[in-house]
Amino acid sequence: MLAGTLALAPLAGDLDRVEAALRSSVEHEDQFLGQVGAHLIQAGGKRIRPTLTLCAAYAAVGGDRAVTENVVTGSVACELVHLGSLHHDDVIDEAETRRGVPSVNARWSNIVAILSGDFLLARASALAASLGAEVAGLLADTIGELCRGQVLELQHLFDITRSEEDYASAIEGKTASLFATSCRIGGMVSGVDEPTLDALTRFGHHLGMCFQVVDDVLDLTASDEALGKPAGQDLVEGIYTLPVIYAIAESDELEALLGGPLDKTRRDDARRLATANGAVDAALAVARDHATKASEALAGADGLDPDVTGGLRRLVDGLVDRDR
Ligand code: IPE
Ligand code: IPE
Ligand code: MG
Ligand code: MG
Repeated sequence: MLAGTLALAPLAGDLDRVEAALRSSVEHEDQFLGQVGAHLIQAGGKRIRPTLTLCAAYAAVGGDRAVTENVVTGSVACELVHLGSLHHDDVIDEAETRRGVPSVNARWSNIVAILSGDFLLARASALAASLGAEVAGLLADTIGELCRGQVLELQHLFDITRSEEDYASAIEGKTASLFATSCRIGGMVSGVDEPTLDALTRFGHHLGMCFQVVDDVLDLTASDEALGKPAGQDLVEGIYTLPVIYAIAESDELEALLGGPLDKTRRDDARRLATANGAVDAALAVARDHATKASEALAGADGLDPDVTGGLRRLVDGLVDRDR
């Protein structure tokens, strides 16, 4: 999906290199650890973060030739951090499926998911360290940001007074920080100057914010089949996302319904109320605003290949209109 939008000749081949390096990055002499580490890698996923690292490198040095081995290594480190966070997130959310297969916690146990998630983060850290202290420090900070975002989300579970600012800060930590870092690392290992690095980072940040807002809207509006899990799951888990925050402000009925556990009927009622009153459109307007800012970050940067940034801007537009 992503590769098609970007229309970059070396991308498919470079993603194959990332795939091979990703698989070998989780090999371990303990066969079980290797098997669990590879579980979600084999299951698929969109590979957005490594694609961003590759694209940042193409933007920096031109999109007409394959990236260096260091760029592949940086891409793999970013996907491994994402994977580790998914192992842990599925424990936190008690999720049963991930990427269309049983989640690690469901297939084995919470303990296995926690330990193997740690293992993936450790492998990511080792790869980042091979790229130098600066990349290693950035990735470590980003893992810290993921934790901050997740903890902030936890602190506002079932909180009907959750503010738009709390929401924005949580998704900045849990999602946008790694998008930003994935882009920044692609620039760092390509040796671009500081203003260009900052432009790539800003692009990734806004893209990540846009992506998570759309993801949160889809939790309310998409079908169970498209989502691969029941729609309205965030409401059940007490995660009141941007459209819900907007809808609560407009509906006393929704406010009265939320704040605690929901059975199926009440979940569907809450979902219906949350998608009324223009709350979804208001949230999508925020997503669009981030998409615009992402594009502007690229447009304002000298020294990036315009063919590549053109592809990235098409990718941004596609994200807002995606249906899964
Ligand atoms: C899932 O990320 C977690 C969120 C930030 C919403 P992705 O939607 O990128 O998941 P995969 O990698 O394609 O499975
Ligand atoms: C995903 O968060 C986990 C991280 C970004 C670390 P969510 O809980 O919102 O996403 P899904 O719906 O499980 O993919
Ligand atoms: Mg979660
Ligand atoms: Mg989750």
